[in-house]
Amino acid sequence: MLVVIKDDYAAISAEAARLVANRLRKKPDLVLGLATGSTPLGLYDELVRLHREEGLDFSKVTTFNLDEYVGLSPDHPQSYHHFMQVHLFSRINLQPRFTHVPDGLALDIEDHCAWYEAQIRRYGGIDLQVLGIGANGHLAFNEPGSSLGSRTRVKTLTQKTREDNARFFGTVDDVPRYAITMGIGTIMEARELLLVATGEVKADAIAAAVEGPITAMVPASIVQMHPRAFLIVDRAAASRLRGEYSSSFEEAVMVRRPLGRE
Ligand code: GLP
Repeated sequence: MLVVIKDDYAAISAEAARLVANRLRKKPDLVLGLATGSTPLGLYDELVRLHREEGLDFSKVTTFNLDEYVGLSPDHPQSYHHFMQVHLFSRINLQPRFTHVPDGLALDIEDHCAWYEAQIRRYGGIDLQVLGIGANGHLAFNEPGSSLGSRTRVKTLTQKTREDNARFFGTVDDVPRYAITMGIGTIMEARELLLVATGEVKADAIAAAVEGPITAMVPASIVQMHPRAFLIVDRAAASRLRGEYSSSFEEAVMVRRPLGRE
């Protein structure tokens, strides 16, 4: 896993967008996995800017979102459908039929989850999966204790996650109790992972995910096993890391593979 530490949130967002844009320019029909939460907002704003100012083209891109709350309709202001629509989909030239978010109103959830997995396979698998991390180390809505080989399914949200997300809903009682989420096994099949984290509130989760033992109690720790995982964090989120890390991908690659020694 390649860890890059940037000074602040703006720098994380720009670096993450640079990586996504680079992959998209190389493969215009990229299959992009997307995340919600406040952390990727800066990345999405930057992608919108690159689209408007530099013509970054999303017309052939297919997207798959990680998760959705059970019981919320796509137009509910706190649904992840709505979040993606407002913050990204409506601002770039993605084709709506190529965007996928789990359906929180699916009548047969198990059937829907199997369909979602089949759709990912049908499009050839996810090339690059954007990820945030929960303060409790969760990935998407794979809460601590989630099986590391899990597939898309329904999960019960922990009290901690419901409290963390209550800021969007008003009170914790308004936060749904269940969500459909890609499994950890599903996420690990993406060809590349890009995890972004900001702020002191994520410092423990980042330290446990990057330097701790791989354990279902810190679902994000499985990222250590991925052959192409990139983590971009700011100084606050990196404050409990003990190892030495680079401040840019170029520098990280140079350290690993000094010039002249391929
Ligand atoms: C949410 C999402 C995750 C996200 C995490 C952190 O509950 N399901 O995908 O990574 O919590 O959110 P934030 O970026 O707002 O801290």
